[in-house]
Amino acid sequence: MESESHPIAIVNCGQLVTLAGPARPRVGQQLRDLSIIDSGVMLVRNGRIETLGRHQEVKGQLTPEYEVIDAEGRAILPGFVDAHTHIVFAGTRADEYELRATGATYQQIAEAGGGIRSTVRKTRDASEGALFNAAERYSNWFLRTGTTTIEAKSGYGLSLVDEIKILRVIRRLNRTTPLECVPTFFGAHEIPDEYRGRTREYAELVAREMLPEVAEQELAEYCDVFCEPGVFDVPTSRSILTSARKLSFGLRVHADQLSQSGGAEMAAELGAATADHLEHVAERGIEALQRAGVQPVLLPASVYTLGSKRFAPARRMIEAGLGIVLATDFNPGSSPTPSIPFVLSLACTQMGMTPAEAITAATINAAWSLGRGTEIGSLEAGKRANFVIHDCRDYREIPYFAGIESAMAVFVRGEPVTAKTPCPENIGARVPQ
Ligand code: NIG
Ligand code: FE
Repeated sequence: MESESHPIAIVNCGQLVTLAGPARPRVGQQLRDLSIIDSGVMLVRNGRIETLGRHQEVKGQLTPEYEVIDAEGRAILPGFVDAHTHIVFAGTRADEYELRATGATYQQIAEAGGGIRSTVRKTRDASEGALFNAAERYSNWFLRTGTTTIEAKSGYGLSLVDEIKILRVIRRLNRTTPLECVPTFFGAHEIPDEYRGRTREYAELVAREMLPEVAEQELAEYCDVFCEPGVFDVPTSRSILTSARKLSFGLRVHADQLSQSGGAEMAAELGAATADHLEHVAERGIEALQRAGVQPVLLPASVYTLGSKRFAPARRMIEAGLGIVLATDFNPGSSPTPSIPFVLSLACTQMGMTPAEAITAATINAAWSLGRGTEIGSLEAGKRANFVIHDCRDYREIPYFAGIESAMAVFVRGEPVTAKTPCPENIGARVPQ
């Protein structure tokens, strides 16, 4: 729905971080080029960017019909695009978080019946309304940290009715909150308790019953599989993803997360949109992704939360020419954070990425990975006016000042959406004098 309110002009932007550039995922040196306009002005009409440029170039078009928002020298960025989240779940796993702090590992907890399967039990018991209320709360967390689009996976239902229930919650979130949600069916996230030891039968249920129903109800754009020995091995993952591809789903894969199993090579072979995690990817996996044009989605907050030091080899992937993406992996177990700024900090301090590379990975590259590169992810004339006024003058301060919320005013389709600063007048009130 396009907004038909009066046009707005964002003036006095210290840095208008546009990310304008080639209409494809950015690779190599391009990742460092944010196309920043100093002293910029951006005009927005009917929810879309009308024009933008230096004040001198645009001022002639700034007629009295525009409502003027003075950014007072701050940095303006596109809304972040978070290309990997598990936003719909019941309860938390704060108890397991404490257990891990005292030495238990993620895998040990999972083997003892905790982990993903414990969230599945709680999610199955929850009503659609209760799940929506929880997810709506989390969607506000995404918005207020500056994220305006997320990919949202199902995967804590693991039965036809429960997976559909979760996907319906995602659809409702997309329709009723300002956060855009791109739905992914993730029935192959884990083997449910009642199918323990019968992985093949469960995989057949996913492929023969769940996927066709999800397709029929148009509840998801993508299909994901947790490709990992002991969960879905490569042949089983391949067979589920091949069925999904026949039904026209785009493909995403949890690949090489806990071990090197060849998930990246399989994602390349199937022409997946993304291969995600990749902490254990092999060199041949990186080369296969490059040849097939698969984008890697790196999730350093899950490495951090699990207390591991093994971050995905981001520098090697950039050197290999991959269209690298960064995302939160927001979920109740391995990554309970919705904050892209926190992920940017981790990318800079733990993965050797520069602030510019990290921002490109969490905006325009993430948008391309979701098939929305022409619509969101950069500030360019004609694109959706999803942008954020950050409370800093230099974009590098977003990862640098770790642990604060730099996003001050968040706009979706040209409308302010965050409760923190609902009216532009408040922006001035917070400027340090
Ligand atoms: O991406 N690897 C599998 N899935 C999630 C974890 C989900 C959970 O622990 O609940 C991940 O890390
Ligand atoms: Fe995940």
